[in-house]
Amino acid sequence: MKVIDSDMPDEHYWNSLFDIPLVIRWLGMKCVAGPIVEVGCGYGTFTIPVAKETGNQVLAFDIDPDMIKKARNNVQHAGLANVQFYLRDVIDSGTGLEPSSAGMVLLFNILHFDERRILLEEASRILRPSGVAAVIHWRKDIETPCGPEVSMRPDQDIILASIRGLDLHFKGTCGILEPYHWGMQLIK
Ligand SMILES: C[S@@+](CC[C@H](N)C(=O)[O-])C[C@H]1O[C@@H](n2cnc3c(N)ncnc32)[C@H](O)[C@@H]1O
Repeated sequence: MKVIDSDMPDEHYWNSLFDIPLVIRWLGMKCVAGPIVEVGCGYGTFTIPVAKETGNQVLAFDIDPDMIKKARNNVQHAGLANVQFYLRDVIDSGTGLEPSSAGMVLLFNILHFDERRILLEEASRILRPSGVAAVIHWRKDIETPCGPEVSMRPDQDIILASIRGLDLHFKGTCGILEPYHWGMQLIK
């Protein structure tokens, strides 16, 4: 199942909507042990800076063959050898990764659908103990130039309700990622 409202606008426009270095600093990846998994990598907007910053293996999943092709191209241009791509519907089929194998899971701009717990459950399953699921999404408190319908956007409380009973715990790092996003980190 493709997440509603998850088609991407023009690549340069999309990339201009984030303060990417701020997001990378917020992730704080120095101590991440193991591969970093990205669910719904899109153009590779975050795949590439994450792969550059860490040197860890980055396993990037997307349901859309065009996105995989573009992101792969971007990774090649960046000269990175530590990114692997998977064309896969992660909602219907999961990641197929081993349990407790990932150091971090990125769920960026993808949790705006009612069954979001499916992806959070998969994150919990594949994360190693002390691994982190990082969520970022569009703010609802301001007007944004892009993003899914406001009523579908999650916020911190919605994510906390969605992880009830899972082995994921709020790390206490939730904040505004100017200009248009917010983020929270969940630790296993
Ligand atoms: C709004 S884009 C966000 C891309 C990237 N995370 C970012 O923030 O730049 C959402 C991406 O998730 C992908 N996607 C949607 N449903 C998916 C699914 N079921 N499995 C894997 N990827 C999916 C879309 O194809 C799209 O590339």
